[in-house]
Amino acid sequence: MTEDFRKLYGSAEGVRVFRAPGRVNLIGEHTDYNLGFVLPVALDLATYIAAAPAAGGKVRIYSEDRREMREWRVSEISAILRARHWTDYPIGVAQQLIGAGFAIEPANLLIRSRVPEGSGLSSSAALEVSSALAFLNGRPLPPIELARLCQRAEVQFVGMPCGIMDQYISIFGRERTAVEIDCRSLEHRDVELPAGITFLAVNTMVKHALAGSAYRDRVAECAAAVEGIKPHFPQLKSLRDVSPEQFESVAHRLPEGIARRARHVVTETARVGRFVSASEHGDLHRMGRLMVESHRSLQHDYEVSCAELDFLVDRSLGIEGVFGARMTGGGFGGCTVTMLQPDAVPGFRQEIAESYERRFGVTPAIYPCEPSAGAGEVKNFETIPSAGH
Ligand code: GLA
Repeated sequence: MTEDFRKLYGSAEGVRVFRAPGRVNLIGEHTDYNLGFVLPVALDLATYIAAAPAAGGKVRIYSEDRREMREWRVSEISAILRARHWTDYPIGVAQQLIGAGFAIEPANLLIRSRVPEGSGLSSSAALEVSSALAFLNGRPLPPIELARLCQRAEVQFVGMPCGIMDQYISIFGRERTAVEIDCRSLEHRDVELPAGITFLAVNTMVKHALAGSAYRDRVAECAAAVEGIKPHFPQLKSLRDVSPEQFESVAHRLPEGIARRARHVVTETARVGRFVSASEHGDLHRMGRLMVESHRSLQHDYEVSCAELDFLVDRSLGIEGVFGARMTGGGFGGCTVTMLQPDAVPGFRQEIAESYERRFGVTPAIYPCEPSAGAGEVKNFETIPSAGH
């Protein structure tokens, strides 16, 4: 990558490389902005940014995926407006850094991403976090502040009212463990997964246009549910605060549609705890069942699934060695995550790919979900993937 950097910019003097991974969420979907729990793992698939200080007062960024170079004078960065372009992510982050008191120094950047875009594996957070590290270029910022700053960039600049899960796990991911995040206290604990299982993400290869607007609608519907429940539970600040039993005692007082949205969030928050406990007891079948329950809840109550995701989940459950499957991420396309026996992987890959091709005429990409380390500077350049796919 440093050689490619040198070819592009004429010199690789002072170059450093920063990496931020994508993620797959095992359970706890659409709970983060309701301040509940999530259980993601950081992936080996990551975004890499090579960066070096430059003369000339400008920041230049090249994206290998887009084969596009953009540049700005550092003095104009704080006034740039959203462009609905991939550069919104690094620019949004740069503006947040300026707001936090970090000057943006003239620099050349080269972006190489292995997180498939639009796959629901959080390529946006990987780009935000790697950009922030590249702009900081070694200047320290507490990891939790880094996560919040990147989330703010997405909410305020990109205009997507996301929770903190994706940025958080990209930073706090750890090898061999899933991470249970409390999205209210912003504390986490590592959850060691039992032996005898592995996870695969299967990509529907679609991202429906609905994704962005429906996400906003769900955020608003959850806020409406909080308003509707508050008169009965005055302490309530978010859907995180009611148990499934408490919720059912007031559900009939809410408009039917709002009640279904809230039911998903309330039961899903509880499911994260049950999944973690099943995992600690090595109860693989129970873990699998909870994943399927989560999917059904997202499918019927939260209504963020789609035909392609439902097909992959239903078909996966019929394949030998599979414990459970569910959609992962925001929904309306992207990936499913399947929990299965390691020796069932080759058979699963073949069967799921063949059935999906037969049904939808596209080959689904399949990714191993090996829990990997969170973001940081890459010291061993041999671990950086080469250009091209
Ligand atoms: C997207 C958002 C996350 C989270 C998930 C759904 O990935 O960026 O904050 O809300 O959807 O769980």
